[in-house]
Amino acid sequence: DSISADYDLSRPITSTSGLRSGLTSYGDAHFSLFLRKVFIKALGYSDSALSSPIIGIINTYSSFNPCHSNVPQLIESVKRGVLASGGLPVDFPTISVHESFASPTSMYLRNLMSMDTEEMIRAQPVDAVVMIGGCDKTVPAQLMGGISADKPAVPLITGPMMPGSVEGSRVGACTDCRSYWAKYRAGGTDVEDIMSVNEELAPTGGTCGVMGTASTMACVTAGLGLLELRAGATAAAVSSARLRVAEQAGRNAVAMLNEERMRPQDLLTRESFINAITVLQAIGGSTNAVVHLLAIINRHPKVAGTIDLETFDEIGKKTPLLVDLKPSGDNYMTDFHNAGGMLALLHTLKPLLHLEARTINGRTLGEVLASTPFKTFPYSRQIIRSLEDPLYPKSSLVVLYGNVCPNGAVMKASASKNRKLLHHRGSACVFENTADMAKRIDDPDLDVSEDSVLVLKSIGPVGNPGMPEAGLIPIPQKLGRQGVLDMLRISDGRMSGTAGGTITLHISPESADLDSVFGVVRTGDKIVCDVEKRILKLDVEEEEIARRIAERKRRAAAADQGGQSEQWISRRDRRGYRGLYEREVNQSHLGCDFGFLTAKGPT
Ligand code: FES
Ligand code: MG
Repeated sequence: DSISADYDLSRPITSTSGLRSGLTSYGDAHFSLFLRKVFIKALGYSDSALSSPIIGIINTYSSFNPCHSNVPQLIESVKRGVLASGGLPVDFPTISVHESFASPTSMYLRNLMSMDTEEMIRAQPVDAVVMIGGCDKTVPAQLMGGISADKPAVPLITGPMMPGSVEGSRVGACTDCRSYWAKYRAGGTDVEDIMSVNEELAPTGGTCGVMGTASTMACVTAGLGLLELRAGATAAAVSSARLRVAEQAGRNAVAMLNEERMRPQDLLTRESFINAITVLQAIGGSTNAVVHLLAIINRHPKVAGTIDLETFDEIGKKTPLLVDLKPSGDNYMTDFHNAGGMLALLHTLKPLLHLEARTINGRTLGEVLASTPFKTFPYSRQIIRSLEDPLYPKSSLVVLYGNVCPNGAVMKASASKNRKLLHHRGSACVFENTADMAKRIDDPDLDVSEDSVLVLKSIGPVGNPGMPEAGLIPIPQKLGRQGVLDMLRISDGRMSGTAGGTITLHISPESADLDSVFGVVRTGDKIVCDVEKRILKLDVEEEEIARRIAERKRRAAAADQGGQSEQWISRRDRRGYRGLYEREVNQSHLGCDFGFLTAKGPT
């Protein structure tokens, strides 16, 4: 039998599954396996248990990550599913990244988590993995790492938190965190009230309860065909449905081993990603998901290069916004779930989807939808609108181009609070970096009006570093107090998916790049934004722009020689992960990945 065969020195170890996979160390495969068995038996496993396929479960629990607080329970449920299907579940940790507890930013650590994920999947003798993620950066990191490692992988989402309640109104992290804080800043709430609001914004564990980045990535993962449709993206973190989703993920991981072409690079095709982007537009998803999807796509050797930022805009032109959730709409993830979740949405979107794309259980999306009909009811149509009666006709997320952003910039047009700003010409009010902004934004003497364009530089992938979510430039206090709710704001940074306003983000190349036009925008310059025509332009003579860029380079070179290097020059000498990050991170239109991790290598 197979157990004693492991010790038969006259026969090579041919199995590439279970504990026998990847036996490369020590030169002698029999001895390597012998040693492996010595150590895994120290954990109490028997030879008989070890003859089953091994399903790794990636444990991203951390006491610093409330969005993953249910991970221990989910692991128990996954194990039940794996064991019931004849597999052997083995959980192991990778790092966990939470939005609020990752300095300088969580984005800075996303690529590190993706490397951890990829290498631990690759290194350990697992036949398939269940990747448990939920908070904003963890799902993208796991998809990036999982695709690169290319072993069968089943994503499992931790699920959204429940909404809280303030004076009878439902509230949820973190759209309402921002609206209550803006009200407090403008003098509309006192300190006792804001303290009690603080208690209610995140009333349970789980991911932010609105259509922020975490919820967006969950829905996008379902759009990729990797989640169970009825509950996989939307069941609350604290629900029993979430535990059943986890059990099913365990079953799926074992079942995948008996299907053909289930490695991520085979399973996911260009069509899968087109479906995911269609979902992104239809849910009014987070702008961050654009960066993450580009990074994920560029990890895939067969899809990289076939989808770029422009593809997102093209799909947007055909896709209406259907899901009425904050920040574009009014509701919470629990409402979306109760309305039918991704199953109802994908049924509604059917005419726009590639139904031949395959899903996590080997069947096509079309087959899955045909076998799980969804009957709409009035409430579901309130939250998930029909194609004929959308919330916003098309192009929720748009991509703008112009001299100031030759590689593109992203705006969630559907979250604008003043549609007039979508077609606007105004004077720039420039902040060179976040410190400059903090110092001057509330200065009563700041030369700014509601028609000004607020410009914030130096929050790009390299500039800060880590592309902070500072793109939601606050309305200057003196204007806020006059009742100004929205202004055109532009930056090379990101904003939280839970935020709203007329905000243009991800300007590429970023201002830290000495060749960038964005880096030489000055206060008083005219900026033109025309969303209909997809234009964002600095209205300054070309010669003047060239002169400013040359001048800036001269100053930078002089500073370098004088030993007082500016931030972007010293990065080649910096040690540690920060040095690696600053040297290798690519621009936002490529996904802010490290060039050497992408399928095609650095460009
Ligand atoms: Fe984790 Fe919002 S902070 S999902
Ligand atoms: Mg966020």
